[in-house]
Amino acid sequence: MDSASIASLTEVRALRDRLDAAGKKLVFTNGVFDLLHAGHVRYLAQARALGDALVVALNSDDSVRALKGPTRPLNPAADRAEVLRGLRSVDAVVVFDGERCTEAIAAIRPHVYAKGGDYTPDSLNREEKAALDAAGSAIHILELVPGRSTTDTLRRMSAGTSVSAPTAKIRLAVLGSGHGSNFEAILAAITDGSLAAEIALVLSDNPNARILQLAREAGLPAVAIDPGPVPNRLDDAAQKEICDRLRASGAELVILAGFMKRLRDPVLAAFPDRILNIHPSLLPAFPGREAWSQALASGVTETGCTVHLVDAGLDTGRPLAQSGIPIHPHDTPESLRARINAAERALYPKTIAQHAAALRARAPSP
Ligand code: GRF
Repeated sequence: MDSASIASLTEVRALRDRLDAAGKKLVFTNGVFDLLHAGHVRYLAQARALGDALVVALNSDDSVRALKGPTRPLNPAADRAEVLRGLRSVDAVVVFDGERCTEAIAAIRPHVYAKGGDYTPDSLNREEKAALDAAGSAIHILELVPGRSTTDTLRRMSAGTSVSAPTAKIRLAVLGSGHGSNFEAILAAITDGSLAAEIALVLSDNPNARILQLAREAGLPAVAIDPGPVPNRLDDAAQKEICDRLRASGAELVILAGFMKRLRDPVLAAFPDRILNIHPSLLPAFPGREAWSQALASGVTETGCTVHLVDAGLDTGRPLAQSGIPIHPHDTPESLRARINAAERALYPKTIAQHAAALRARAPSP
């Protein structure tokens, strides 16, 4: 078969050996990938996050026919490989004949094998399992994304029906270090229907943050990451872990809600125009900590809050929306802070919804 998107087993083995020499890991998965949908994209992102490169072993056309009957595949292997190679998470595609990818596993010797769905390591095909054991591959079973499958898509196509709700919701990852009142407001807006979103992940640099507790109570994925040894700073490993976890979650927008650490690349580069923060002042006035105290001390008569895009600076990204509040003569830092927070809880969910709609109108999700 001739396709620029299909690699040879030798090429992928060379990639695996290069990674191995650098102390990195090659992840391997396999499948048909006939009609790519969001479930595949998220699954592949999760697989990729298990290591440093991902190879997909694709069933050949004959192999798909043998597995799924004469009406499949809908798309030839060269096209399926080309589409897969277009994904950020996929580093190489090989094609295998027959029903099992045992030969590819033995030739490539991946560090990690990822499989989706209702398997357990013990219910994998015996031949493939033996090849994985011989190669020393770690086995990871990834959860399938509910409601997204090729079979469902084909059923809808033949019935002439459409689906709107699942694709209309934007997937949010929320990062916070503390109390989580803005997160609560976002959850409330999702519940009352004013924000068409689903929470893919809640992440904190502080294992005791109330935001994590709120997420767990709501049955949402909640993760604490280790920020590294330097106070008030996320080290490179933490930045990479955040990036990998955000990608694996399938998040389309990253929402900072009281996240007290600065993000850098690779996170910023992975989500251009897709990371939002809320700050308790009318930026560019009073960036940084305790903005309400800064406003009081300066003698201004109005302050407020700003939702802005996040860049590498301290509260310097492009503002998306602001809400002003007057400062009263008898305001204390606490009373002012409480009124700003009330304004934040109204402004943030509304601005997230507007920004999501603007992104959707402009371009497909990352
Ligand atoms: C808010 O004041 C927000 O502006 C700032 O951090 C605070 C977060 O509060 N970035 P909460 O955790 O959402 O209650």
